[in-house]
Amino acid sequence: MNDSTDNTLSIRATVMQTPTTDQLEVRHDVVVEVFGGLIASITPADDFHGQVDVVLADDQVLVPGLIDLHIHAPQWPQLGTGLDMPLEEWLFAYTFPLEASFADEDFAQTVWDSMVPTLLANGTTTAVYYGSTHNPATTALAATCAEHGQRAFVGRVAMDHPEGTPEWYRDDSAADAVAASAASIDAIRALGSPLVEPIVTPRFIPACTDELLTGLGQLAHDTDTLVQTHCSESDWEHQYVIDRCGMSDTEALDSFGLLRPSTVLAHSVHLSDDDMAMIARNRAGIAHCPLSNAYFGNAVFPARRALAAGVAVGLGTDIAGGPSPSLFANAAHAINASRQLDDGVDINLAAADRGMAGSRIDAITAFWMATKGGADVLDRPIGLLEVGRRFDALAVTIQSFGDGTPPGAAATDSDERIFEKIVRLTTAADIDAVWVDGRRLAPVPQK
Ligand code: GUN
Ligand code: FE
Repeated sequence: MNDSTDNTLSIRATVMQTPTTDQLEVRHDVVVEVFGGLIASITPADDFHGQVDVVLADDQVLVPGLIDLHIHAPQWPQLGTGLDMPLEEWLFAYTFPLEASFADEDFAQTVWDSMVPTLLANGTTTAVYYGSTHNPATTALAATCAEHGQRAFVGRVAMDHPEGTPEWYRDDSAADAVAASAASIDAIRALGSPLVEPIVTPRFIPACTDELLTGLGQLAHDTDTLVQTHCSESDWEHQYVIDRCGMSDTEALDSFGLLRPSTVLAHSVHLSDDDMAMIARNRAGIAHCPLSNAYFGNAVFPARRALAAGVAVGLGTDIAGGPSPSLFANAAHAINASRQLDDGVDINLAAADRGMAGSRIDAITAFWMATKGGADVLDRPIGLLEVGRRFDALAVTIQSFGDGTPPGAAATDSDERIFEKIVRLTTAADIDAVWVDGRRLAPVPQK
């Protein structure tokens, strides 16, 4: 493959992608033309007469780049560790102390320089990040994404509640937190990167006073900025909001002006039908974080139910509540979790009473959530390789298992089976190239 130095290129490949929750689209041997980062045409190779810059090999497939809707950037150093406590204890024991250390800008930069390229190598072309309460570290995160060419939404975390936060990692007041959040929006916009946007980030209701939540709803409105927060994540968090606000988490966020179009609600495991209808009505969306939910959620997110209710659903790693940096791993686990929800898990119940029939999702729906679903939540023209969208894409090697077929030729595999392999098995080692906005990014993982 040739490297392209700017964001205009043509690439010959077989494309696999999911335009809808239940449709696998396979376009064999097409040429995708990209001008200024925008997909201008997709033409069968036999009908294409222009210059081709990049040709994928027979054992490679072109897929849309992955959209991770939920990452706690300063938790990168504890990825894969410390998941031995419930959420409300884990935050105080491990997470707030780690995040507090991002007052040190050198430390923060070291972490960002490790994390951003690693996530790109795992196929995450768009990342929605929580920073910390520190403006310099948060701005540096946005600058690091711009420098490495990752599409990103970066939020300065706001948290001022005297009981929901430790006194050593807390905003001094609601007014201070709103002012610092406004300054962070300005600083990120001042970077002037077309790839990186700010996002208003009240951590979650237990960590924020009503005054802060109201102020941030107003700030998002006044500055036309997206919002992210956590919603009905666990039994404890869900009940805490009912006890404090006298309504569900979803309703409370709406009352604070935070349930806006494209608001990213992390987790949202414990939603009523009314909550789902309200999220759909407001055109907010959910970041489904299946690996994290296994540790903190106390239940399985009912993805099928949310989709049937018309809610936009994407996928998130929830680094480091989820122990993998890979959205492929999360997509695979979303399938597994939905199967356990469908069947149920308690052998003391009769099979017919054990699960929630109709809950299972397959590789197509899981990949849709990791791509087009995330794009729908954010309302950005990404997540699918079609004319008019930005060219964010991955070249992925199809796995073969020494079954006598040449690597990737997979003579016995149908398109559907090849796609399933991609969703369930792809690791960074199988991702040969990453493009964001038509630019091929370095470093590319070496095999
Ligand atoms: N709720 C509030 N903060 C956090 C966090 O850092 N991780 C997760 N998973 N949930 C949260
Ligand atoms: Fe989270």
